[in-house]
Amino acid sequence: MSKKNKTIILGIESSCDETAAALVKVEADSPRSTRVVAGRFKILAGVVASQIKIHQKFGGVVPEVAARNHVKNILPVVSQALAKAKIKPAKIDKIAVTTGPGLITSLMVGTETAKVLAYAWKKPICSINHLKAHLYANWLTGEKIKFPAICLIVSGGHTDLILVKNQTTFKKIGQTIDDAAGEAFDKVAQLLKIGYPGGPIISQLAKKGNPKAFNFARPMINSDNFNFSFSGLKTSVLYTVQKLKKIDPKITADLCASFQQAAIDVLTSKTMKAAINYQAKTIMISGGVAANKLLRQTMEAKAKKAGLNFLMPDSALCTDNAAMIAVAGYFTKPTAWQKLRVDPNWEL
Ligand code: KG4
Ligand code: ZN
Repeated sequence: MSKKNKTIILGIESSCDETAAALVKVEADSPRSTRVVAGRFKILAGVVASQIKIHQKFGGVVPEVAARNHVKNILPVVSQALAKAKIKPAKIDKIAVTTGPGLITSLMVGTETAKVLAYAWKKPICSINHLKAHLYANWLTGEKIKFPAICLIVSGGHTDLILVKNQTTFKKIGQTIDDAAGEAFDKVAQLLKIGYPGGPIISQLAKKGNPKAFNFARPMINSDNFNFSFSGLKTSVLYTVQKLKKIDPKITADLCASFQQAAIDVLTSKTMKAAINYQAKTIMISGGVAANKLLRQTMEAKAKKAGLNFLMPDSALCTDNAAMIAVAGYFTKPTAWQKLRVDPNWEL
């Protein structure tokens, strides 16, 4: 990439059920430097075509249906992003695309489209890890990041604790040993028959419930590592539901509030434990579950109480989007388009 102070990156994301494109402008510290600090990333346009309504009737994402809809949406979404940003392809410096982890056929749609655009427009292209991009969503907060930081990545497929040593050096220090936190929200919503995706519905219903009504398991909350387990919590809700004679709206709200409280207690206490252990100066959160209000409030309060900086992207930048892919693209070396391959199981 040329050593100029302004770089425009086109991000493309299609790893699950959102087709997204974004244009992000990055300003480096000085005209001769490509080093940036958080706060110099500006979203010129971000477009997300959600397939939630399509998959709702199946109670989850159907991979074949998702891929077909990505095919339908991808070019309109890219061209809408360009039009919104009033950017001609000639002004783009780099293309960044999610190549994993995710659903293989969904990933292929974004990746092959990005490769064609890179070839046709003669642009450098880079391969982005979706989870790393969730982490980089924190660079869009506009805050200066003090390192080392601990980032909690909580999505539908992952629950990871990452030690962020600097802008480009990360180390995974913990992960779920079974279900991801978002998966637990989705499965609990499924067993309560309240709809899909579970996270936003549970947090909405929980507002009218009592978080102390049921004392659900908080697996591994006191374990001496930074791993998580959510399948026991989900089973704890299942056994409680099976024992109940009837489930009215008040009980549903109590179940949602109590489940949400248990999940958030585990997520926040493990994150704090990691921050203290690694003497972190900053705590960051990201991924779909980081859109959860209670998680945001609780994590912020705990971080502040411990005298740590706290960052969280806007809720819309916690769930899948392409602006975070573009930010990750800024820090990633280009690859020849001929060599770009999807990797559905790519670990961070
Ligand atoms: O990051 P994301 O959009 O996609 C993946 O990479 O997985 O995360 C989706 C997950 C789903 O499991 C969804 O239920 C959860 O994030 N989620 C939430 C909330 N909004 C989305 N979970 C809890 N509370 C929310 N408000
Ligand atoms: Zn995601």
